[in-house]
Amino acid sequence: MSLLLRPLLYYALFLSLVPTFSQSQTARGLIYSATADFRHDSIPTARDALIARGQSIDILFDVTEDPTRFTDAGLTPYDLLVFLMNTGEAVLDEAGKAALQRYLDLGGNFVAIHSASDCLRNTTFYGREVGAFFDYHPLIQNATVDVIDASHPSTNMLPAQWSVQDEFFLDRYNFKSDPRSVGAVVVLSANESSYLDPGPRRFDQGTPHPTAWYQERGAGVENGGILGRSFYTSLGHLNQTWQDDLFLGHVAGGIFWALQSNTTRAFNSSGQVGNPGTLPGTASGPATTISRSNPSSSPGTSGTSRHVCFPSTPSNSLDIGVVLKFLERTHARVH
Ligand SMILES: *[C@@H]1O[C@H](CO)[C@@H](O)[C@H](O)[C@H]1NC(C)=O
Ligand SMILES: *[C@@H]1O[C@H](CO)[C@@H](O)[C@H](O)[C@H]1NC(C)=O
Ligand SMILES: *[C@@H]1O[C@H](CO)[C@@H](O)[C@H](O)[C@H]1NC(C)=O
Ligand SMILES: *[C@@H]1O[C@H](CO)[C@@H](O)[C@H](O)[C@H]1NC(C)=O
Ligand SMILES: *[C@@H]1O[C@H](CO)[C@@H](O)[C@H](O)[C@H]1NC(C)=O
Ligand SMILES: *[C@@H]1O[C@H](CO)[C@@H](O)[C@H](O)[C@H]1NC(C)=O
Repeated sequence: MSLLLRPLLYYALFLSLVPTFSQSQTARGLIYSATADFRHDSIPTARDALIARGQSIDILFDVTEDPTRFTDAGLTPYDLLVFLMNTGEAVLDEAGKAALQRYLDLGGNFVAIHSASDCLRNTTFYGREVGAFFDYHPLIQNATVDVIDASHPSTNMLPAQWSVQDEFFLDRYNFKSDPRSVGAVVVLSANESSYLDPGPRRFDQGTPHPTAWYQERGAGVENGGILGRSFYTSLGHLNQTWQDDLFLGHVAGGIFWALQSNTTRAFNSSGQVGNPGTLPGTASGPATTISRSNPSSSPGTSGTSRHVCFPSTPSNSLDIGVVLKFLERTHARVH
């Protein structure tokens, strides 16, 4: 045999012995943006941006606000779920939560964005899968965010001190617990000396200030399940945020990294959830977009805020009397 061919042969032998988990199918993701409390008006912008950006990392997104999609059959086709700016306990019923738990236990991957840390607050496994629940945020001001782990795909395109102007990063979320306590690795940290936070801080969220993080083993997995990955970023409040290339790179990097758990079918032929290679849309019907027209209350410009409760409506028509009554109540409660 020629000396030239021998290395190639060894290489081929090596490949046949080492299991590989390269992506064999376009991954499929489900974006869930239902809200039961405060509704961010940037949700449609965010959904469109995620769908467009998904092409660059070979993931095809369906979007829904329909909680009845949370069944075993409804979730099985997906390599990844994205909880996008959800709020409130009522975004899933008990059966939906159980289906979500089973999906995670089967190796499903999970990404949560912005106020997705402020939904299902009574659901312990969900909080662990996100990493921590939202507590409150100080309102509009400029601030810098420090990259504290530049090696991660969600941060490797960011400047070490990510300085953002024009209310771009409205929210420096504070959390009810330290995500590091469930095994998360914090990659972004709000620079607390770059903005004012009148508090009060009622919980210990650890230092440095957690702003975005990842979990190699999603802590919401129970019953000895297969450990998919979880990624969370607290950024993403405004439309402008979703038009910023660096921010989109940050989110797409987190999604890309989560998929690389290789626990799902687009990457692993023995995976139990994920895209097995059927044509997109055939496994559970066509992608659905259900948009609700709940107006969102506009944030103030000072002080702090907990997300306020907004009655959610199933239809596009909203009784103006209900809105006015709600606004009266809200006005009385929020300062
Ligand atoms: C998943 O597979 C890719 C190769 O396709 C590899 O680089 C990566 O390390 C794998 N991830 C895990 C967690 O094994
Ligand atoms: C953000 O975009 C949405 C939809 O694209 C729009 O309805 C909303 O008014 C925008 N919000 C602001 C504050 O411009
Ligand atoms: C959540 O838990 C709190 C206190 O534990 C309780 O007061 C509240 O009713 C619960 N909410 C829902 C929607 O289950
Ligand atoms: C944020 O910084 C920019 C540029 O320095 C400035 O124009 C803008 O007014 C600042 N916004 C706030 C809310 O302070
Ligand atoms: C944090 O922000 C302060 C005030 O803007 C600045 O002086 C300091 O250099 C920043 N520190 C880091 C580590 O980014
Ligand atoms: C591939 O999937 C199987 C079955 O779900 C799982 O046991 C295995 O750990 C997965 N491989 C990787 C690299 O995660």
